[in-house]
Amino acid sequence: MSVHETLPLAILISGRGSNMVAIARACAQRRIDARVNQVICDQADAAGVLRARELGLATNVIQRAQFTDAAGFETALLRALDAQAHELVVLAGFMRILSPQFVARYAGRMLNIHPSLLPAYRGLNTHRRVLAAGDRHHGASVHFVTADLDAGPVVLQSRVPVLPGDTEKTLAARVQESEHIIYPNVIGWVAQQRLVFREGRVWFDGEPLDAPMVEEFLALAAD
Ligand code: GRF
Repeated sequence: MSVHETLPLAILISGRGSNMVAIARACAQRRIDARVNQVICDQADAAGVLRARELGLATNVIQRAQFTDAAGFETALLRALDAQAHELVVLAGFMRILSPQFVARYAGRMLNIHPSLLPAYRGLNTHRRVLAAGDRHHGASVHFVTADLDAGPVVLQSRVPVLPGDTEKTLAARVQESEHIIYPNVIGWVAQQRLVFREGRVWFDGEPLDAPMVEEFLALAAD
């Protein structure tokens, strides 16, 4: 792909789709040089499906229950993805674990966002676990996807404060607000070819990125 071509994306979702909307808006407003070719959701009744359709995005529902096994589901996913030329697959609240074979197929071309300051709090219920631990900071991480769950190299993190009186809901909302900024930013860097994942290493502006970049979101403190 030349530097001047618009980066074609597929976005995989399972739920609300607020990150998908943030990314689609950044594309539509030309804040990033990318375009959403396709949204794939594994839940027919997910709010994100409706939101994607409202935005006029090509939307495909592929449910795990339609297939006897996970391999059949992944084959259908691959077929849908291969029907269009995607340069990047963006996981945005996609709640299925993908096989190493699937991940290898998109090596260096698949991103995920996880609601924690990785490597802390891999897995589920991150906001609850952060509150239970009494942490003073929380955030989200955008990372390349590798075969190990939530363990691919992190590119950019948002750091938000945990405030007295926070509940899972208020903390999740603060983290999500930051996600809607950092995820489009990272995709924009891929589109500009400033960010690449090659030979197991992340490169940013031609230099190896050995630790994640961190953006502080103190302004969200007053939410
Ligand atoms: C986000 O909080 C993201 O970090 C996690 O799943 C959530 C998806 O939210 N992976 P949404 O569907 O984008 O609103």
